[in-house]
Amino acid sequence: MLALLRTATVFGVEACPVQVEVDVSFGLPGFTMVGLPDVSVRESRDRVKSAIRNSGFEFPPHRITVNLSPADVRKAGSAFDLPIALGILAASGVLTRRQIDEVVVLGELSLDGAIQPVRGVLPIAIAARRSGLDAIVLPAANAGEATVVGGLRVIPAATLADAVRAIEAPAQAIPAGAPGQAERPAIGNTAPATADFADVRGQALARRALEVAAAGGHNVLLVGPPGAGKTMMASRLPGILPPLTLEEALEATSVHSVAGTLTAGSGLLRERPFRAPHHTVSDAALVGGGSLPRPGEVSLAHHGVLFLDEMPEFDRRALEVLRQPLEEGRVTISRVARTAVFPARFTLVAAMNPCPCGYLGDPTHQCRCTPRQIAQYRGRISGPLLDRLDLIVEVPAVPPAALLDGGSGESSAAIRARVLAARACQQARHEAGGADLPRLNAHLQGRALRRCCRPDAAGRRLLEAGAARLALSARACHRVLKVARTIADLAGAEQIAAAHLAEAIQYRERE
Ligand SMILES: Nc1ncnc2c1ncn2[C@@H]1O[C@H](COP(=O)(O)OP(=O)(O)O)[C@@H](O)[C@H]1O
Ligand SMILES: [Mg+2]
Ligand SMILES: [Zn+2]
Repeated sequence: MLALLRTATVFGVEACPVQVEVDVSFGLPGFTMVGLPDVSVRESRDRVKSAIRNSGFEFPPHRITVNLSPADVRKAGSAFDLPIALGILAASGVLTRRQIDEVVVLGELSLDGAIQPVRGVLPIAIAARRSGLDAIVLPAANAGEATVVGGLRVIPAATLADAVRAIEAPAQAIPAGAPGQAERPAIGNTAPATADFADVRGQALARRALEVAAAGGHNVLLVGPPGAGKTMMASRLPGILPPLTLEEALEATSVHSVAGTLTAGSGLLRERPFRAPHHTVSDAALVGGGSLPRPGEVSLAHHGVLFLDEMPEFDRRALEVLRQPLEEGRVTISRVARTAVFPARFTLVAAMNPCPCGYLGDPTHQCRCTPRQIAQYRGRISGPLLDRLDLIVEVPAVPPAALLDGGSGESSAAIRARVLAARACQQARHEAGGADLPRLNAHLQGRALRRCCRPDAAGRRLLEAGAARLALSARACHRVLKVARTIADLAGAEQIAAAHLAEAIQYRERE
């Protein structure tokens, strides 16, 4: 007898529907799988067999053939265990129905019949909803992700026996979350609960640079000795960024769903991600990779912040592969059959010491680095990469006395209010200016850049003088103009004036 079920897999962050056909017929007992399953799917045979037996069902002593189609979708992972097991039970008459086509089923089985969480549930649930399916049967730990997709019945199952009951009597299944929940607008509207800029003493320049970065989507490099507060301030950047929109939250959560980095039971991400990979990270872990591509740190930071502490310590290759996501806001990973695309639109905050020992220019410590060592250290960040960092800021150590008193700094909420106003200016231009105007100043280029970033006469003179003095490349001048545009937006000014340019040029002095 033949049973049919629906399941799905992901490639990149895209869901691909997969049909599971199970045929149980008389003949020599055996268990074959066709449809290009890879090693991990073959391993599922053993799990499925044990799970069925240990759940109190009979594993049919017949010829079992499982076909996963379409054949050209590359299938890997363990999420096919549950649909295969249910298919076997359906085809051998344990289930009363043999064509189960109104639900998507996914889950990994343990040998004892428990259902383990799987990756990619959110994009699969979104795709299921889009294609008009009714419900999704999934591991209980993944229920939160699927619940954010309104209009889809979410049926969590902890064990294979649970899943059998759910399929047999769908009315008794626990509907996790009400449909339409995704329409809720209140995502991330609460101020971030964690770290606040109010905790940061002094560092007016770096605080300001991070405000400009948040307002215009610019990348930042913080240069300063150990203990100056670079990590502390970088980790507070998500808290001054605008709240995630629903669309952004769905995109960011989808990446984390595919990566398997959502905590069990969690739904939509509510705060912008902050990712801080260690400098020993491989380039595959940084930008994504693998034979069945997985998202890297740059994609896990999508719509949030990527913090690279001790940037010169990163592998040169890892830094070079950062260029594509920085330029395009996405990562493409080419494989023989097809190309996976992961979104990767993040704000980069990089930090480094001024020299290998860290104390160059520090009044309280002696730097013992040679000029050659210092040049070598700085040279590890290539010109093209440095070119993509809009703001370069010196972060001197705060004297201990200032750390003790120094008064409370401005709160993240107050800074965020200005960031939101500056973003509204950019949004208004974007809406008025048509498709070629990006939402964020940092992404301006070509004609749009020339159109939006026209300084007044005094500003132009200042830029020309600054460009000559600092020997700025054309690229660097564009960078200065974009930053000046953001500074003008923070000031509520329509035209870029000399004061805005003066501040923007100051962020290139260190180069
Ligand atoms: N400007 C500052 N205001 C308040 N505390 C600070 C400041 N700078 C450093 N600190 C304290 O010192 C600790 C270490 O700072 P950190 O951010 O790790 O420095 P860095 O990353 O520059 O080496 C912080 O956790 C914080 O407690
Ligand atoms: Mg640090
Ligand atoms: Zn030194």
